[in-house]
Amino acid sequence: MTSVEIRQQFLDFFASKQHKIVPSSPIVVKNDPTLLFTNAGMNQFKDYFLGNKKSEFSRIADTQKCLRVSGKHNDLEEVGVDTYHHTMFEMLGNWSFGDYFKAEAIAWSWELLTEIYKLDKNRLYVTVFEGDEKEGIPKDEEAYHEWKKWIPEDRILFGNKKDNFWEMGDTGPCGPCSEIHVDCRSEQERLNTPGKNLVNNDHPQVIEIWNNVFMQFNRSKGGSLVPLPAQHVDTGMGFERLVRVIQGKQSNYDTDVFTGTFNAIENITAKKYDGTDTKEAIAFRVIADHIRAIGFTIADGQLPANTGAGYVIRRILRRAVRYYYSYLDHKQPLLHELMPVLATQFETVFPELYQQIEFVSKVVREEEEAFLRTLDKGLKRIDDIVQATTNDIINGKSVFELFDTFGFPLDLTKLIAAEKNLQIDEAGFALEMQQQKNRSRAAATLDTEDWIVVNEEKEEGFVGYENNLIQTRVNKYRKISAKGKTQYQLVLATTPFYAESGGQIGDTGWLEFGDETVEVTNTKKENDTIVHFAK
Ligand code: ALA
Repeated sequence: MTSVEIRQQFLDFFASKQHKIVPSSPIVVKNDPTLLFTNAGMNQFKDYFLGNKKSEFSRIADTQKCLRVSGKHNDLEEVGVDTYHHTMFEMLGNWSFGDYFKAEAIAWSWELLTEIYKLDKNRLYVTVFEGDEKEGIPKDEEAYHEWKKWIPEDRILFGNKKDNFWEMGDTGPCGPCSEIHVDCRSEQERLNTPGKNLVNNDHPQVIEIWNNVFMQFNRSKGGSLVPLPAQHVDTGMGFERLVRVIQGKQSNYDTDVFTGTFNAIENITAKKYDGTDTKEAIAFRVIADHIRAIGFTIADGQLPANTGAGYVIRRILRRAVRYYYSYLDHKQPLLHELMPVLATQFETVFPELYQQIEFVSKVVREEEEAFLRTLDKGLKRIDDIVQATTNDIINGKSVFELFDTFGFPLDLTKLIAAEKNLQIDEAGFALEMQQQKNRSRAAATLDTEDWIVVNEEKEEGFVGYENNLIQTRVNKYRKISAKGKTQYQLVLATTPFYAESGGQIGDTGWLEFGDETVEVTNTKKENDTIVHFAK
């Protein structure tokens, strides 16, 4: 069965059980301050659970684009290293809003998996909430009782709050849940170690595929659980994992969800994916995964940026660039070339990428080009920093320098450091960051782009006591915007301009580049601009 057929069968199955099939909501969340991105199929239905709104349909099903890279649900570090976590993934879901409850949800999930998808019943395990005294919630006897109708009792396992009580975020709808796990190991391995010992134990072949949440509470801001006005069902099945199980593969990346992208990467880079744990194979997986997060998020209206949701996308993109640059030995923009492959594959499921493919590819290419301009220098710099590091920790100042000058997101530096068996000083970095924010605030800077390094000459600093007219070079520059105006900050190798500091007013003057003359101003002269050139 192809992935297209598998997705369709899910939707058809729930349509046959009187569910309305609806489109995925955008992956970018604009109207919920508790979320940056959609992290579960139920997000778009939050108000129905809370009783703030009434759904036109009491039963709904869909496939939802989700992203789990920030906040409560964050899988980024596992992505590509293992074979079954993703940044962006599809969550197949069915919902009951005050309609059916545990009996039907459990019976239907069993029917779909074993009769339609024909999964081997002997490889399935289910988990049920064991209760939590502190929260005042009893063991979920009802779910246990319903499962007993379908599966032998020794395959029903009790789980704690961490695994069997699902919450959308720090606040919001929540409730006990019941998961379905599949044991994909060989017969021999299954004989040696019973699958039930490996459920919820991070085993790459014994994996959760479906979660049935029984929504009963709202976690309030103060942390208490408030019963919801009605009881609901919220389920989520990991589509890529389901496809892998049905197609009998060892890795999500070996399914036809990903093979088109892998072929394209192989054609462009002339490397071959071998499914191992080498850095090269991880790079393939990271890229094939990350382009989905990048492409669908931009198509849904979130451009890469230096703050908020946009920065999450920029971080993911830079992580992918670093992987192809370092491990596929590919020094040109690559991701934008893969985008049309992805768009065509998902044309009928999530048409928004296909409809905007030129725009999305252009944004991605420009992002790649911008990072590739500083990546090589940044990687050399990190090598120097590592050489100079005498303990096991890269200091905060260096991490900040990599961030500020070379555009290395914190998690990228952390990843590179870990590859060299080093840690990074995150607290030190945060301090440097805060100090920079204070400086920027003082200068009323609203938005700064990355520095573009054009010359690595050592900075000689201020020579203005001796000279007002000098010949020098631009070491680096960046674009800044404040109050709608675009300006540039430059750092000169040597400068006669006295910087604005304390209560002093910065020097003004001119820069001459060939025939061109650029005015250097200061904030006091034009109080809504911020130009403080050089040091
Ligand atoms: N909302 C539930 C989950 O994401 C189904 O696991």
